[in-house]
Amino acid sequence: MSLPPGFLEELRSRVSVTQVVGRKVSWDLKKSNQNKGDMWAPCPFHQEKTASFHVDDQKGFYYCFGCHAKGDAISFVKETENVNFIEAVQILAKEAGLQMPEQDPQAKEKSSYRDELFKIMDLSVRFYQRSLNSAQGAKARDYINSRKLTSATIDNFELGFASNNRTELFDYLKDKNILEEHIIDTGMCIRSDDGGAVYDRFRDRIMYPIRDSRDRCIAFGGRAMSQNARAKYLNSPETKLFDKGKSLYNFSAARSALNKQSSLIVAEGYMDVIALAQANFKASVAPLGTAITKDQLALIWRISPNPVIALDGDRAGINAAYRLIDVALPLIETGKTIKFVLMPEGYDPDDLIQERGRDAMQNLVDDAISLGDLLWKRETEGLSFDNPDARAALDKKLDQAISNVRDRQLKYHYQQYFKDLKWGAFNKKTVKKSSDLNNITSTGNAIKSSFIANSDKKNFISFKEGVILAILVKYPNLIETNKEKLTTMDWNSKDHVSLLDEIINMGHLGYKEITENLEKKFGDKALGKLFKQSYVNIIPCLGTKNDPQQAELILLDEIKKLEIQRGLDAELQEVVNSSAEELDETAFWRLGQATQVRLSSNKSEKDDLNNFETAPNGVKLNREEKSQFDALLEEISQDTFNKSKNHEN
Ligand code: UTP
Ligand code: MN
Repeated sequence: MSLPPGFLEELRSRVSVTQVVGRKVSWDLKKSNQNKGDMWAPCPFHQEKTASFHVDDQKGFYYCFGCHAKGDAISFVKETENVNFIEAVQILAKEAGLQMPEQDPQAKEKSSYRDELFKIMDLSVRFYQRSLNSAQGAKARDYINSRKLTSATIDNFELGFASNNRTELFDYLKDKNILEEHIIDTGMCIRSDDGGAVYDRFRDRIMYPIRDSRDRCIAFGGRAMSQNARAKYLNSPETKLFDKGKSLYNFSAARSALNKQSSLIVAEGYMDVIALAQANFKASVAPLGTAITKDQLALIWRISPNPVIALDGDRAGINAAYRLIDVALPLIETGKTIKFVLMPEGYDPDDLIQERGRDAMQNLVDDAISLGDLLWKRETEGLSFDNPDARAALDKKLDQAISNVRDRQLKYHYQQYFKDLKWGAFNKKTVKKSSDLNNITSTGNAIKSSFIANSDKKNFISFKEGVILAILVKYPNLIETNKEKLTTMDWNSKDHVSLLDEIINMGHLGYKEITENLEKKFGDKALGKLFKQSYVNIIPCLGTKNDPQQAELILLDEIKKLEIQRGLDAELQEVVNSSAEELDETAFWRLGQATQVRLSSNKSEKDDLNNFETAPNGVKLNREEKSQFDALLEEISQDTFNKSKNHEN
């Protein structure tokens, strides 16, 4: 749609950016000057406690001094409501009482036909709502109450009731002078096959209006009151308004409820979405009686990059999740994926919330597993891999699944990830069985010993893990944003893993509280050990300097390096563990590849080294810091930890 010149200027002059922004932030009234339209608030686009988000009402602009988000009222609506430009303009124009420009005549005719259908849907929503509140709705009200829905929820979801009367809705709409053809086109009524009488599609059912992304009612779901009804749920047919594979129940409300932190929940049924919303998981949607389609995934990703799929905890639900993997694989990209909640056997989100409460659901959402892990589960659960046929079959299945990933970088990481998992799964069995290592050829032995020779690698990994943990303790605000990376990454030391768990649980606390709690839990010795390492002194942001930016860079870098290291190790380990017969050409080829990658990564580490010297314990030191370090070494005593604590302040 093209907008006439001057329209946007008119719109911008009519809306107050302060008012638009004000719905999503709480102003810092001390810092703001309301009379001048000069307003400050904590930024809605990034997490912070201070108010660095500035709105200038006169200029009609906002700017965040923290994350540099900037724009006007239109871009604000676009960003926070997850709509496109035209939709944002429409929303604001409606609020400002500004008529949207006319479209071309043909489009106008079409739109007036559609408008008529929308009007019928709207009338039906109100009609069913009234009916639920009338005498004939008494039983339906009882039923709804028995499902523990509050009256606010019933209102929010505009639940209604279609009585058993065959023509009640039809008569009502006819009375409003609406054309029969139009009524039938909405799918609300049906003309009998012989071309005669028209009757209502939905009878003796609880009615759930389904709205589109612009909040217009496009269809209904109807739940049978009677146990004997042919279908428990009856949904509107496909119509000019309703394409069920491209719609999601509760989409528009979920979109407004989403903020940049919480993730969207995708459940299976109407009642799940309603129960979730009532338990304050307002950002929840469901497909409409069919498996989730790729169009629906696209719709979901438009508003949430990392949604959580919570299908029923029965065989059908699990199978639906398994099938969804194949729909999703060709579509995922870096930063655009899905996760899965594994519901307990026999529960859907509604049952779970009613029986075990909101927290139980929250815990499941927090524990959602990745797409990769669910794929692994699908291909391995209940199987044994103690023979080459099973292993080859698994290889083939995983390769085939991964080959569908189009994002090249992501594909690479999926490959690496499964390599690690396979190594773990295969190794469990092989370790015990191949105690008889005599079989290994001399070549195998050579590889093996060269692998083992590299034994200080263990220290190197442990060192890197220590750096990561120390950074997290000192810069707790890095915990939440990197939680996923941290928890999915493979940790070498068990101690480190339990420390990480503790740290993550305390992610909302500050440095002081975290160290205090950790001391209580592990004793100051363990923690002292973490901080007594020389890296506290050679990495500036861990020592005297307070440098969150550097801390984040180092954190990400260390995680990445560990990842690469493990990928290579897994590859080598696989070769080392192979029996003589398995050490064929392919194995050597792969070994060659791995060695090449390792050499090039060593090279870049060597380049790094040019700027460093090595301390007595093998730790690299920046030359400039060498003398500083020497001085510090002397100072290091049992209370190094306390010292670094003081440095923080
Ligand atoms: P469920 O049977 O899990 O529905 O079907 P539910 O939402 O948990 O319903 P309650 O708790 O029994 O009231 C999941 C979804 O599958 C579709 C509906 O969209 C339903 O919400 N469905 C189910 C149908 O379309 N037709 C049916 O006959 C059954
Ligand atoms: Mn249910």
